[in-house]
Amino acid sequence: MAAEPQRGFFLTFEGLDGSGKTTQIKRLTSWLAAQDLPHIVTRQPGGTATGDRIRALLLDSKSAALSPRTELAMMFADRAQSIQEIIAPALAAGQIVLCDRFTDSTEAYQGGGRELGSQIVLELHRLLCNNLQPDLTILLLPNLKASLARARRRNTHEIEATGKDESRFERERDSFFQRVHAKYLEIAAREPSRIVVIEGKLSIDQVHRQIVGALSARLGLLQQGQSQFSSESA
Ligand code: TMP
Repeated sequence: MAAEPQRGFFLTFEGLDGSGKTTQIKRLTSWLAAQDLPHIVTRQPGGTATGDRIRALLLDSKSAALSPRTELAMMFADRAQSIQEIIAPALAAGQIVLCDRFTDSTEAYQGGGRELGSQIVLELHRLLCNNLQPDLTILLLPNLKASLARARRRNTHEIEATGKDESRFERERDSFFQRVHAKYLEIAAREPSRIVVIEGKLSIDQVHRQIVGALSARLGLLQQGQSQFSSESA
């Protein structure tokens, strides 16, 4: 009898700029390695050779004249490549895929922030990404002002250190980020079983523990469903 195709676990991280995603992804990666769970880490935009070039164009503050629809199309061009080259093969190989941002970012930033609305984003996701859905999404929503201040400080340091100005999004007004924040909350309310929202003023350790708790619970469910994780836990 042919073996069942293996399906790994698709975990995405979402949040405003400066919300601490990168720190949490690093912590979780160490945890996964300690548990001996096969995983890969990628990000959007970027992660593939083509995607890294798209990312540079999107984030460069010299791309100021990019129209919202151009920006939207570039996010999906990046994502389609990332799914084809990285995400789909890793899931097919039974790995846990950690992805720093996915289509919720497009819905929040282009749909909400740029006011293009959710419908066009969800439609493009169906057409270009085969409607691939994460198994779990961690949405980090610490205080809006604190996140932005952190992201803007980080960019200033980066410009000083590297001379590269990749702050096109961080240069947006606070009202843009308020719309992004509101759209994130709307998406989380629409999909409560997929999205775990971690809000408020918590320490890095507290957030990490919540993420590990949410992921362990899902992987436990997967064990009952006979994925490859069951043999690892035996
Ligand atoms: P990052 O700094 O978290 O890697 O994200 C880069 C920027 O790109 C961030 O400001 C959010 C923005 N972005 C969108 O506007 N739409 C998207 O679909 C994605 C993936 C990112």
